[in-house]
Amino acid sequence: MSEHRIEVVVNGHRRQATVEGRRTLADFLRIDLGCTGVHIGCEHGVCGACTVIVDGLAVRACLMLAVQADGGEIKTVEGVAAADGTLHPVQQALRDEHGLQCGFCTPGVVMTLVALTKGPETPSGEVLEAAMSGHICRCTGYQGIRRAIRRLAAGEQA
Ligand code: FES
Ligand code: FES
Repeated sequence: MSEHRIEVVVNGHRRQATVEGRRTLADFLRIDLGCTGVHIGCEHGVCGACTVIVDGLAVRACLMLAVQADGGEIKTVEGVAAADGTLHPVQQALRDEHGLQCGFCTPGVVMTLVALTKGPETPSGEVLEAAMSGHICRCTGYQGIRRAIRRLAAGEQA
């Protein structure tokens, strides 16, 4: 068993830790750092529940090792809303359009949409909907998520 010293910035806070080489980023964030919004479902890259943003890109935290994130900047769903609690437009759209029920898939859906819409130009609804092919939702039938996406693509603030 190898152990490694890593340093990452998570939701704006610098964190240092010693992790086993085999520790996944998902377990590191959820269990070691207490970011319980990082949901763990399939643990092999299919369901999308564990999605977080690493250095600006949405990644499956279950498919990445914590040591691979060393030196990186990570955002989890805990870091998406404003400090005063104001929801991010992605969160607000999903809330308003009933894009969630049990909420298990929701942090991953949020992180993918936040990553894709953070640039100056929001991608088309088709692009955002295609990205949802990487997320399994067992509750909503996806229609509320699609409505939220159309709203984001149209540039409407909820
Ligand atoms: S838990 Fe990572 S994709 Fe399912
Ligand atoms: S809201 Fe329950 S799995 Fe998507």
